[in-house]
Parts: sequence; structure tokens; C-alpha cells
Amino acid sequence: MLKNIDLIVGARPNFIKCAMLHNELTKSGFKVRIVHTGQHYDELMSDVFFKELSIPMPDVNLNAGSGSHAVQTGNIMKAYEDLLQENPPNLTIVFGDVNSTAAVVITCAKHHIKTAHVEAGLRSFNKNMPEELNRIITDSIADYLFTPSNDADENLIKEGVDSERIFRVGNIMIDTLIAYRDEIDAQKIIEFKPVLHNYVYVTIHRPSNVDDREHLKAIIEFLNNISREKTVLFSIHPRTEKALRIHKLNNMFLPSVIQMPPLSYLKSMKLMIDAFAVITDSGGIQEETTFLGIPCFTLRNDTERPITISKGTNMLIKPTQDNVNQVLEPLKKIECEIELWDGHTSERIAYILKDIL
Ligand code: UD1
Repeated sequence: MLKNIDLIVGARPNFIKCAMLHNELTKSGFKVRIVHTGQHYDELMSDVFFKELSIPMPDVNLNAGSGSHAVQTGNIMKAYEDLLQENPPNLTIVFGDVNSTAAVVITCAKHHIKTAHVEAGLRSFNKNMPEELNRIITDSIADYLFTPSNDADENLIKEGVDSERIFRVGNIMIDTLIAYRDEIDAQKIIEFKPVLHNYVYVTIHRPSNVDDREHLKAIIEFLNNISREKTVLFSIHPRTEKALRIHKLNNMFLPSVIQMPPLSYLKSMKLMIDAFAVITDSGGIQEETTFLGIPCFTLRNDTERPITISKGTNMLIKPTQDNVNQVLEPLKKIECEIELWDGHTSERIAYILKDIL
């Protein structure tokens, strides 16, 4: 009999992660229902990813929307509980570390629905990050933990997780990158006319970087100083846009810091690949730059993806003058191979689930 699987997506990185897995599960004979929690809802934060990556439109939208953590998590739990009561799946799959992920796993556990977590085991060991709390909650509850790398397995084992729940399958984000590489390379970014390898591509959106005015101001000064040597292309996330407005910092940028709206997946990847260096606080971009061998400077004190530092081109930095020089003299490009970051993670997950379900 066909087994029913719910794929839960809510925020931008989830859409990228679900694209190839949806295909593989369907090919393997599962009946897949895409449930969008509505955590991200704008055209540029949501719809464009479905179109570009040929993901079928969600079967259900829980329309949770924005709000405080409690409001957002509560809205998702309530709406998904209603769906489970009407029409429960055999398994629910969640991705990553966003509020949608933790909210759905808790709801499933209370209704005895089995769950699988893709991108399990990552830890920044910084409980001030909402994502770290979401990771810990999700991994402590989910039945099947699909991990991207050995460090993730080790974290779970140290937390006392039974090894039978852990499956090392590799990095699902890299599946999408490999599958869409030709389309990425064919992108023409006419809007910003970037000069090949002569700009620094920037994405910043973490609360720890944008919510505090003084810290955000220091980041703008840092980007301004870099822009004296190289053009800075800054893709502005809605949280960052809101913070710049509230803190009245929008006019502080020098003209060679070019502000852009949130970009589609293909455009963002194209700008990343052609950049001299990347500055970010995103988790996914640390991994993508590692895979591609692009110098990446992460404006954070810690990372849940230490493999991007030990094996990749990633460096944790603060927005200081010394680090302006460091960015302008970036690390040498190193193409690095990480075991199971090979474009076949979704296939491995589908294969394992066929055996389990
Ligand atoms: C969320 C995730 C973060 C992830 C990021 C990717 C959590 C706790 N955080 O952060 O881990 O890296 O997504 O983008 O789940 N907004 C819009 N339009 C939208 C969505 C949001 O304008 O479509 C604005 C709203 O003002 C909202 C704010 O952005 O209040 C933040 O959105 P939210 O989903 O709460 O968190 P993110 O910062 O996007």
C-alpha cells in the first residue's frame, strides 16, 4: 500500500532542501503531501523558490505567518494538529532548524505520528540562538535522524541518542546545488551588472547581527570599509530591512554598497559562485561556499557547521578593521570534497525510508 509522507516546509532554506527529496520520494512510490507552514510568505521569500526549483505548489498552507516565537510556533502547532486529526500521514519529514521544524515535531509526537529530521545533529552549543533550541528539541523527539556529517553523528551520540535512530546520509542542500548547476551558471544578473570576481557578496539576517542597533551599525561600517576596495552586493532579508528602517540606518551605506532585495535561489548561487568572497551569517551559505571552494567569512561567534571551517574555506569573524583587510586578501580557493556531499542524499533518504516504512 502507498505510504503517505508529509514534507514540512516553512522558511526559505526549507524550500531549497525539499526540492530533490520530493522528487525522490515520489519516484520511490510514496504519496507526498507538501505542507507549507506559512512562516515565510512573501513572493521573494517563498513563491519564487517553488517556481525556480519546480516544486509542486503546497497541498496545504497553514498560514502561520510572522509573530513572536511563541505566537509563530503556537500557530503552526494548532494548524498542523487540525490537519493531523483530519488526515494523518504515516511519516512527517522536517528540515533544518527553523521554528516550523520544532513546532511540527512536537505536534507529531503528541499524536504518535513518526517523524524524520533531515539535517539532524548540528550544534552551535549556543543556546542564545533560537535555531539551537529548535535543533535540540527536534533531535530529542524525532524518530529518524538524517545527518549531514560525522560531527553531527558524534553530537547525537554524546547526547545519548540510540545509534539505531541515526543515519548519515550527507548534505541535502548540495543535492539541489548539483542538480541545478547548469541553470545557475546560465543566470544573467542584468539588474546589478556585477564585475566577475570583483565584488563581495553579503547576506546578513541573524537576530544577533541585526536586532541590536550598535552591532548593525558596526557591520555597516565594516561593509563600507570593504566597499572602498571592492563593490559590496548586499542582499537584504526582510528582518534586516526592518531593522535598518527601525534603527534609521538605511542612509549610512556608501554608494558602492549596493542593496538588493532577497534574491531567488539561482541568482543568489550565481552571485556567490562569481564572487571574490562571501560575507554571511547563514548556515546554508557556509556549506555551499565550502562545497564550491569560495572564501567565506561568517559574522558569528560560533557555527553549528564546524566542518566548513576544518575542511572548507569558512572563517568566523567580527566586523573589525583587521578583518576588512582579511576579507580583501581572502583565503585561497580550495575545492574540497566532503564525504556524502555528492548530490545523492535524497536518494539515500528515500532508500532508507522504503526499508523502514
Ligand atoms: C528564519 C529562521 C532562520 C532562518 C531564516 C531564513 C527561525 C527561528 N528563524 O529567520 O533560522 O535562517 O528564517 O530566512 O525560524 N518577513 C517578511 N516576509 C516573509 C517572512 C518574514 O517580511 O515572507 C519578516 C517579518 O517581519 C518577520 C521577520 O521577517 O517578523 C522575521 O521572520 P521569521 O520567520 O520570524 O524569522 P527569520 O529572521 O526569517
